[in-house]
Amino acid sequence: MDIKGKVAIVSGAASGIGRAASVAIANEGARAVAVVDQDEAGLEETCRLVREAGAEALPLAINVLDVPSLERMYTDTHASFGAIDIVFNNAGIVLGPPPFPDSDLERMRLVIEIDLIAVTQSTALAIRYMRDHGGGVVINTGSTGATSPLPTDAPYAGAKAGVVHLSASCAVFNESDGVRVNAISPGVTETPILEHTGGGTRPDWLGPILEGIKVLSPEDIAAGVVRIINDDTIVGQNIIVDNEQIVS
Ligand SMILES: NC(=O)c1ccc[n+]([C@@H]2O[C@H](COP(=O)([O-])OP(=O)(O)OC[C@H]3O[C@@H](n4cnc5c(N)ncnc54)[C@H](O)[C@@H]3O)[C@@H](O)[C@H]2O)c1
Repeated sequence: MDIKGKVAIVSGAASGIGRAASVAIANEGARAVAVVDQDEAGLEETCRLVREAGAEALPLAINVLDVPSLERMYTDTHASFGAIDIVFNNAGIVLGPPPFPDSDLERMRLVIEIDLIAVTQSTALAIRYMRDHGGGVVINTGSTGATSPLPTDAPYAGAKAGVVHLSASCAVFNESDGVRVNAISPGVTETPILEHTGGGTRPDWLGPILEGIKVLSPEDIAAGVVRIINDDTIVGQNIIVDNEQIVS
């Protein structure tokens, strides 16, 4: 899909990968980006950057776990711009301290609800909308933790594996409805989520991991998102972005 003139929704857009992807999509010539997050102040800054890049910006301050809000994300974007061509379901959290299996049980539920259930619901809403409006592209954020063991945050790894298989299972909607669904799986990326992992500071166990690898920038992941949108042959795949290279 040529991004020029298109309308996108990006969740988790107040920070990190979501903000970088919103700006990258605007830089590629999108007409408008609806930026979604519960962090209103962060959204304001993302809107400023999107407008600076030449696109219209619509801030939607919602919790993606609230189903009526999630539905409003689609109706409000359509009401403002008359189209939704691209949806990047990217809002996510990690477990935080203490590591699994000693973590709070309700926190485990929240990780799975935000990282997998809200992504599943939004993917369904995107397909329903896009099949009636000439097709589109959906990208869901997975993680390299989806395919290699992450014992300190096993619920996150499980949720992200779910995102990858959810996206693969939606491959058929490309042929039937012109809706192309994929996952993107970042390696370790320099965003505030690394601090959340340690509840405000980076946890000890992350230190050796960070020393052994080249940490990605949010812009590296945003470039992967743009590549998936542009390339109509990428269908139902899990695109891994690691070590500054798109390796699969
Ligand atoms: N940073 C990494 O190393 C890394 C690696 C692999 C995957 N990821 C994934 O990338 C995505 C983006 O994370 P990031 O690294 O940019 O982190 P981030 O913390 O900078 O951004 C996540 C954003 O999601 C928002 N969010 C969380 N819960 C929400 C909710 N219920 N409703 C609305 N918004 C909500 C937060 O407010 C935040 O702005 C996440 O899905 C994360 O799991 C990150």
